[in-house]
Amino acid sequence: MRIGVLTSGGDAPAMNAAIRAVTRVGVSRHCEIYGIYGGFQGILNEQIHELNSRSVSRILHRGGTILTTGRSEDFKTEEGLEKAARILSEHGLDALIAIGGDGTMRGLAELGEHWQGRLIGLPGTIDNDLYGTDYTIGFDTAVNNALDALDKIRDTAEAFSRVFLVEVMGRRAGFIAFHVGVATGASAILMPETKTTIEELAEKVIRAKERAKSSVLVVVAEGDELGNADSIGKALSEKIGEKCRVSVLGYIQRGGNPSHFDRILATRLGAFAIECLLSGKQGGMVGEVNGRLKLTPFEDTWTKKKPLDKWMLGLLDELSS
Ligand code: F6P
Repeated sequence: MRIGVLTSGGDAPAMNAAIRAVTRVGVSRHCEIYGIYGGFQGILNEQIHELNSRSVSRILHRGGTILTTGRSEDFKTEEGLEKAARILSEHGLDALIAIGGDGTMRGLAELGEHWQGRLIGLPGTIDNDLYGTDYTIGFDTAVNNALDALDKIRDTAEAFSRVFLVEVMGRRAGFIAFHVGVATGASAILMPETKTTIEELAEKVIRAKERAKSSVLVVVAEGDELGNADSIGKALSEKIGEKCRVSVLGYIQRGGNPSHFDRILATRLGAFAIECLLSGKQGGMVGEVNGRLKLTPFEDTWTKKKPLDKWMLGLLDELSS
């Protein structure tokens, strides 16, 4: 079997570990593996080159993606999809594995309407916002990166008894904010999944100060409905009559060496993707749910909602009391 592999959308730590597992397990099981460079656009640009086991040496520990990535507008058009299907067939590919987030799964589903080859998705995004897997590749590392930054910010917050708002990534989902907030002991967490008014936030901060907390950290998901950390910080400063400091962590969360958890997850899912293809299974995203590997139809990955842990959500006020 000739299998193409690409990474698409935002890079995520351990995408390389997934590429390595796909390549090494694929080659060992007598497949030919072709790396496609630059995401879906790389198909249109015919950036397709064979990989062997040595092509993926020394990448297990590296962030980013050796295949490079992109968000292709051309690919989304009818002409783009038809052209991609034609190029994949001309290169004699039987299957395509794409590693990325919800946009990547949509891309695969659309390609499936134009191309007869087998398609498998691998969840690679720091946002963890895909249904069909408990965790996405890169999420754990991103949370650890943010946590490291927050622990440092807390030193200054404590030294001055300051209120800090720290914005973390997560376009439409609060998984990063939720995990970072709980793990760093934030006084409040603002995320798109929960509605918090500026009055409620101000009350939480004032209560924390009244309880003589030495610092107040508020974690804000970039996708929160109240705004970004900067605008919320200004409004909060006015409400509580004290200047709140703001720190936007940004892309620092997405880079760096992947954690042990992400390397193992990426390795398991990469190997499982090959096993699915060789056993005739396709048309979905591989994921791990309750420790078991499974394949979820593409459409479910973005139409079904993976909820935040309700029990933990209910504990937030007690934990920050
Ligand atoms: O989806 C991953 C992510 O890092 C989001 O958290 C963030 O909103 C977005 O990508 C940023 O995208 P870009 O790299 O295109 O700026």
